[in-house]
Amino acid sequence: MSIQPIRLFGDPVLVSPTSPVVDFDKELRTLVSDLTETMLNAPGAGLAAPQIGVPLRVFVWDVDEALGHLINPSLDLGEEIQDGEEGCLSFPELRYETPRSMKVVAKGWNMYGEPVVVEGSELLARALQHENDHLDGILFIDRLSTLDRKIAMKEIRESEWFGTAISQGRSPRIKISPHNPFEKGL
Ligand code: NI
Repeated sequence: MSIQPIRLFGDPVLVSPTSPVVDFDKELRTLVSDLTETMLNAPGAGLAAPQIGVPLRVFVWDVDEALGHLINPSLDLGEEIQDGEEGCLSFPELRYETPRSMKVVAKGWNMYGEPVVVEGSELLARALQHENDHLDGILFIDRLSTLDRKIAMKEIRESEWFGTAISQGRSPRIKISPHNPFEKGL
């Protein structure tokens, strides 16, 4: 197990497509361990594989003192919407009001290839939606209102870490999600 560097907004890997996991092997279990250790070290409530530069459909979470992970997930979103602030380890120190479904049912596999169903509400539901979005190259700023996104982009440009991302030769990309966040499904 090892702690990996967390990729920051501006890194193309965060807005690139990911591939389903095919082999449920030792390499996958190492990835889940690295994600978990990196998340706990940050600390964060969730982390998706693209955030450590791995374009695979895997994420982990740590919500209400319970660790979890999902491979190749698919989500069913409830109609009821929750309000609340949300942050992302790829956007250090920034939090914005982000609408999410109050309840979600996530289906996928664990790292041993066994099918699992995770039912979450409130913070767990929020984490599952946030991390699942990462697998589609969708970032939480894509889910903000137009006005909030403008405010967010200004604060992101002014942040110290964003300057670091640019100096590393990574050009920032803003992806506006075509999804209506109030629609069911992703
Ligand atoms: Ni995130």
